[in-house]
Amino acid sequence: MTSTRKTFDLVVAANRLPVDKQVDEQGNVEWHRSPGGLVTAMESVMRSNPGAWVGWSGDAGEAPPPFDEEGMHLRPVGLSAEEVRDFYEGFSNDTLWPIYHDVIVPASFHREWWAAYVRVNRRFAEAVAEEAAPGARVWIQDYQLQLAPAFVRQLRPDVRIGWFNHIPFPPVELFAQLPWRSSLLEGLLGADFLGFQRQADARNFVRACRQLLGLRAKGERVALDDGSGRQVRATAIPISVDYRGLESLAQQPEVMARAKEIRESLGNPDVLMLGVDRLDYTKGIRHRLKAYEELLLERHIGPPDVTLVQVATPSRERVEAYRSLREEIEQTVGRINGELGKIGAPAVHYLHHSYPREEMAALFQAADVMLVTPLRDGMNLVAKEYVTCRHDLGGALVLSEFTGAWHELHQAFTCNPHDIEGLKQAMLRAINTPKRDKERIMRALRRRVADHDVQRWARRYLAALDAAPDVPAPDPRGGAASAPVAPHDSAPSASVKEGPRTETDGRPVRARVGSGR
Ligand code: ADP
Ligand code: F6P
Repeated sequence: MTSTRKTFDLVVAANRLPVDKQVDEQGNVEWHRSPGGLVTAMESVMRSNPGAWVGWSGDAGEAPPPFDEEGMHLRPVGLSAEEVRDFYEGFSNDTLWPIYHDVIVPASFHREWWAAYVRVNRRFAEAVAEEAAPGARVWIQDYQLQLAPAFVRQLRPDVRIGWFNHIPFPPVELFAQLPWRSSLLEGLLGADFLGFQRQADARNFVRACRQLLGLRAKGERVALDDGSGRQVRATAIPISVDYRGLESLAQQPEVMARAKEIRESLGNPDVLMLGVDRLDYTKGIRHRLKAYEELLLERHIGPPDVTLVQVATPSRERVEAYRSLREEIEQTVGRINGELGKIGAPAVHYLHHSYPREEMAALFQAADVMLVTPLRDGMNLVAKEYVTCRHDLGGALVLSEFTGAWHELHQAFTCNPHDIEGLKQAMLRAINTPKRDKERIMRALRRRVADHDVQRWARRYLAALDAAPDVPAPDPRGGAASAPVAPHDSAPSASVKEGPRTETDGRPVRARVGSGR
């Protein structure tokens, strides 16, 4: 009997669907936009590349039936309450996440978490296999689904399989701690093409295959030893934002009026500083607050002339490291405001909410200085969103050299967030640099994002997937997938031409800001 079920030429699989199911106290179901950069980027890709999206609906229990939304076919995958705990909170976010982010907090290893990870990855692969048309392109996303490529290959050897890592891939010395390291590498090697944010990440992966699996690798290609003769290509292909879509949103008169209103409601400060992050220990929010507090204590800056808005989106709140981070951040904000705020002029405006895209664009436009200070971040799309929204060439971006974004936006006011003195200096430079110089920097940053938007990224990714393990021919609209995108992979500052330097060698900050109290 032939099935009449519709299948798709492009199937994306990500841990989350683009929408998140939320059930209120009365039992009413509401669907909200899912958090995070993956959804922001992939949602705009799917608008121009229709297909199916396989993902978790965000709550525990049976999967709701598939449904269509904004031209996408959404295929929910169900996770039981135990799987949410063991697969999502446990193995994904308490084992892999710390290891892949330089072990900023210690990783936990539990065999039952691993068992859930295997089981859920297989379930995702089964759903993908059902949705994919013959010869389809399957595009698997992120660290939660590293076994899915091999499972999909077992089920559907006819499809092309790509995987993209939105977060860093760790050096082999850290990756080797994982008791399941070989299985993870073998899972990924089920793909035809593996995309990473930075060349350093791709190189870490290739090195891990060589050292831990004993495979032969040449450049970006790893040769399998299973008798298939198959090779897998691994390279950097950094993700981006929907530049045109977001820029035109930021140009809407209502959004611009809202930006003005935000500034007015904050008392029209001379300098409005902004941080926008998921509440994650990778984002360097503690370091940022420490640097800001010291600048206030040393009277370089102070409210009401200078103020900080910190938007901290709730994230993974049942994982202990996230719970304690939230407590610590909220205590710090309370202390700073208690000691350094004024009546009607708090030093930090702390917002623990999710906002619509229009409000985010208005916030970006309102901010004179954007603070993006992660200790480690695969990309950090917020940095790219900020420059995209600054069509007026206003504003200044303080950017950590430990983000993927810095490898493209190295003209920004670079900082090493571990170096608190250096971070303070970068913040002061972002405030004090003359307007014309800041405009020149902003123009360069915007050009980079405009030329390397998410649509170009998706075109390059899919061309690379089709050609893998070969390198595709250059695309006249936007470069071949092999084109080196990052100006440099490690060596901070060495090739920074326009941007100010980041290190202070521990020397104290000297410059004072005019508006200091
Ligand atoms: P991550 O994926 O680690 O969360 P990114 O910076 O890459 O970090 O992406 C975060 C995405 O979430 C961006 O698109 C940003 O605009 C969005 N975002 C962050 N905070 C909020 C918020 N409070 N409300 C709405 N969107 C937010
Ligand atoms: O890329 C990092 C990531 O885990 C994405 O998968 C997701 O977009 C984002 O962070 C948010 O995380 P979570 O889905 O755990 O809320």
